[in-house]
Amino acid sequence: MSSVAVVGTGYVGLTTAVCLADIGHQVTGVDIDEAKVARMARGEPTIYEPGLDELMGQALKTGLLRFTSDYSQAIPGADFVFIAVGTPPGRRGEADLVYVKQAAKGIAAAMKKTVTIVNKSTVPIGTGNIVARIVGENLRDEIPFSVVSNPEFLREGSAIYDFMHPDRLVFGSHDESAARAVAGLYSKLEARILITDLHTAEMIKYASNAFLATRISFINEMARICERVDADVKVVSEGMGMDRRIGPLFLDAGIGYGGSCFPKDVKALARMAETMGYHPELLDAVMEINLDQRTLVVEKLREVLGGLRGQLIGLLGLSYKPNTDDVREAPSIDVIENLLQKGATVRAYDPKAMPVLKAQMNSIEYCRDPYAVATGVDALLVVTEWDEFRHLDLDRLKSLMRRPVIVDGRNIFDPKTMRDRGFVYRGVGRS
Ligand SMILES: NC(=O)c1ccc[n+]([C@@H]2O[C@H](COP(=O)([O-])OP(=O)(O)OC[C@H]3O[C@@H](n4cnc5c(N)ncnc54)[C@H](O)[C@@H]3O)[C@@H](O)[C@H]2O)c1
Repeated sequence: MSSVAVVGTGYVGLTTAVCLADIGHQVTGVDIDEAKVARMARGEPTIYEPGLDELMGQALKTGLLRFTSDYSQAIPGADFVFIAVGTPPGRRGEADLVYVKQAAKGIAAAMKKTVTIVNKSTVPIGTGNIVARIVGENLRDEIPFSVVSNPEFLREGSAIYDFMHPDRLVFGSHDESAARAVAGLYSKLEARILITDLHTAEMIKYASNAFLATRISFINEMARICERVDADVKVVSEGMGMDRRIGPLFLDAGIGYGGSCFPKDVKALARMAETMGYHPELLDAVMEINLDQRTLVVEKLREVLGGLRGQLIGLLGLSYKPNTDDVREAPSIDVIENLLQKGATVRAYDPKAMPVLKAQMNSIEYCRDPYAVATGVDALLVVTEWDEFRHLDLDRLKSLMRRPVIVDGRNIFDPKTMRDRGFVYRGVGRS
């Protein structure tokens, strides 16, 4: 058992804290948000993640997990201190390191003995060196420490599962033995381990996210071509995915990627490349295609309805993907703003994300279920592929709508079935 502190207990930090406690470590989660800390200490997860509630409750009960907003309660006893604070986009899209720097200062001020500082936040290449410099400059006494990059690859919506069943674990440091010691924390998990240098570990995270985002923009470009040549992108991607060199994942055409990672990480990588004198043509195209997908679904609605002014549009889904309440950089936000700007009225339903979006957007009506959304609308737009939307009673839905128009931004329905049921149906990249 090791003693671990996790600084920043958002999606990544809370998952890391709960899971490390579950595999037997003594963990203290530290967050500057006192209200969040109070809720977590009561056993209330501050985010929605399948399985988190239960695991968190157990870990609090066994005493292996606790939370504080006070660094001096967490850092002095820790052998390993994880940094899992946010790295939001700055004004020009670069990663803003303000929270990472604050965390490094706080850790240094509270350190009483040798620790290994493990950076889990997604950061520009070289940030580990910046953390080391800040900690060094702010230490009260001369205490040896190491910095290791251990990027996180979990997906929101399956964060606990992904943490417990990683495809690989990456550790990078100038100090190989420190990297191996951090790998030792995960010895109960079955995973391929890659030990490398600090810069390479930091780059692996950006390169992985940029590649996945590229696959999504690639298939969205194929979808646009499919619409013009009368082909079905869903079958195209199925056929492509059967090739082992390609594989089936991240080949779903739709409204494009969103969330707290892909948009900001692709942008941050591109801006970082530019500051190093390289123009990232492919990454720029990936971002442009992605944003255009959000406009294209609104264009489809406009085309089918013959204009949007005065139309009532119902959105199914708001979160950027299913099984999460996260709406950060969610396509739904751009879509709503675009629809409102074009004079439409918008209402929506999402199984989890409504309270989160409501807190930042009150210009739309939030409904209790998909049927309430459908009542009297001129069109429905599927924004998020929540499972419950696949099992809707289509006849009931149609009977409630003013006009039976569905634009399926996630291709969850079969075009022929929908037309047979009497809907005017438009998917993405399907004839
Ligand atoms: N969310 C994901 O799916 C995901 C996946 C992989 C990697 N990442 C990366 O992990 C990092 C964290 O992302 P997240 O989604 O968990 O962010 P988040 O915004 O959900 O959580 C960050 C937390 O850090 C806290 N915080 C900020 N400054 C602090 C400080 N100085 N001391 C203590 N706490 C502080 C905030 O209050 C917040 O609770 C980011 O770099 C992100 O890119 C995120």
